Amino acid sequence: MALVRVGGRRAEDGGRDEGEVVTERAAVTAFLARHGIDYERWTPAHAVAADAPAEAILTAYAREIDALKGRGGYVTADVIDVRPETPNLDMMLAKFSREHWHDEDEVRFIIEGRGLFHVHPSEGPVFAIEVEAGDLIRVPRGTHHWFDLCGERRIRAIRLFQDVSGWTPHYTDSGVDAGFEPVCFGPAYVTRR
Ligand SMILES: [Fe+2]
Repeated sequence: MALVRVGGRRAEDGGRDEGEVVTERAAVTAFLARHGIDYERWTPAHAVAADAPAEAILTAYAREIDALKGRGGYVTADVIDVRPETPNLDMMLAKFSREHWHDEDEVRFIIEGRGLFHVHPSEGPVFAIEVEAGDLIRVPRGTHHWFDLCGERRIRAIRLFQDVSGWTPHYTDSGVDAGFEPVCFGPAYVTRR
């Protein structure tokens, strides 16, 4: 179940403004919808192991993938697999941890692991979305955002594309990303409050 944190900017004294965390599913969905971001849970998850071959994952979720393709004009789907031992992981992550936007939607269904999207809306404060297994998220084309992995540096996700060439990041070079720590907050964070 995804969580949203609004604010959380690095404070001038070196600490961090804790921001406001939205945890309730309907509230998360409504908050994201106000920013044009689709959020769904695909439950129950299909009976396919999280470490199954990519083809098995795509086959298991074929019905959901086809429904999304029909809604969004996506033509291809693949499975991205990132682990701590992935070669050149830091270089790969650095491409997406700076504020950028794409010519097409960023659509991800999380199979395993976690990740943190920061979104910088045209109006209102930056917010973070922590996604985990079972979460589907669609960040519309043109949305300013950046992405980090959580501490376990693991994510496996289905990606959908309208046109693979459209997924090249366009960097804003705004520097806004530097004001936010890539800190995942998760259930532990929520219960500590
Ligand atoms: Fe992106």
